[in-house]
Amino acid sequence: MQDPFGRHISYLRVSVTDRCDLRCVYCMAEDMVFRPKSEVLSIEELDRLCNCFIRLGVKKLRLTGGEPLVRREVMSLIQSLSRQLGSGALDELTLTTNGTQLARYADELVEAGVRRINVSLDTLRPEVFKGITRWGRLDAVLEGFAAAKSAGLQVKVNTVALKGINHEELPDLVAWCGEQGFDIAFIEVMPMGDIGGERRLDQFYPLSMVRADLAKRWTLRDIAYRTGGPARYVECLETGQRIGFITPLTHNFCESCNRVRVTCTGLLFMCLGQEDSADLRTALRSSEGDDLLESAILAAITRKPRGHDFMIDRRGPNVAVSRHMSVTGG
Ligand code: GTP
Ligand code: 5AD
Ligand code: SF4
Repeated sequence: MQDPFGRHISYLRVSVTDRCDLRCVYCMAEDMVFRPKSEVLSIEELDRLCNCFIRLGVKKLRLTGGEPLVRREVMSLIQSLSRQLGSGALDELTLTTNGTQLARYADELVEAGVRRINVSLDTLRPEVFKGITRWGRLDAVLEGFAAAKSAGLQVKVNTVALKGINHEELPDLVAWCGEQGFDIAFIEVMPMGDIGGERRLDQFYPLSMVRADLAKRWTLRDIAYRTGGPARYVECLETGQRIGFITPLTHNFCESCNRVRVTCTGLLFMCLGQEDSADLRTALRSSEGDDLLESAILAAITRKPRGHDFMIDRRGPNVAVSRHMSVTGG
């Protein structure tokens, strides 16, 4: 699959549920309204959809949410899709999780063929964690990390940089990841789902400043390592772990975009930072064969925009997208 700008689409992110057991302030509203079950794709429909994308050239598949591990039967989807790893049709099957359910699922994930996962963690201070997630328990997530590590999963920590909330703690997170043997990626907070925009705008902390803060304590060396995701990496010489920088606002990476996203209700979003979407559920449900679905996907790819419209004005990032991040799973 190639888009109008010559970019090859080989990475699909699938949100398997819009539900989550946390409510991170930058990701969901506290009183989020979830989609009714009738609109949400079944596990069989998700499997069919993913296989269709794989036939069209997707090599990397990431399950997201909401929180993917709160969806009952997600393991059966993973087990079914992992057959495509065995056949060589798929290079990587992975997920992005908040970690609360990992203590329960880490071993099963490894058995199903998952090798690497990304786990969100913005702070190591329980009270701050509770503030960001609105009620989350840091303990449960740390148990999840321990389980992932002992199961042999390669872990990348995702940390959103938030001015006045965790920005001073970020060099400590690098130390912790070094001790644990985890890579870490810092992310600039994106103005999604916050119509007033004031809080996220106030919390924006550019990663150029994070890098400068880290450099006071750690020796950072640029490296060419890439995963097919948007992060640019350095190696931390003291810890030996990688540190990634995901900079949608200060260094646009859309030029090399290789990905699209499907929501749990079957909406295909060609760009995280745009409103345009294509309904794949109707194509899925209106026919047993996949011809309609395939043509709906290919038609949508021709509409993939050049990039997002997030911008930083004098005061911080503007609000470009009204849906919450949890709808498209990051
Ligand atoms: P790796 O395979 O480890 O590189 O993961 P990834 O970065 O592709 O996936 P992950 O779910 O860890 O993504 C981390 C965050 O990066 C997401 O939650 C988003 O905040 C951001 N991100 C990922 N892809 C895009 C993108 O295409 N555009 C923008 N603006 N942000 C993205
Ligand atoms: N800006 C940047 N990253 C976000 N995430 C969620 N909401 C936002 C946002 N507004 C990240 C989470 C998690 C991933 C799924 O998306 O931290 O790592
Ligand atoms: Fe849930 Fe992840 Fe969003 Fe937090 S960032 S509310 S854990 S989906």
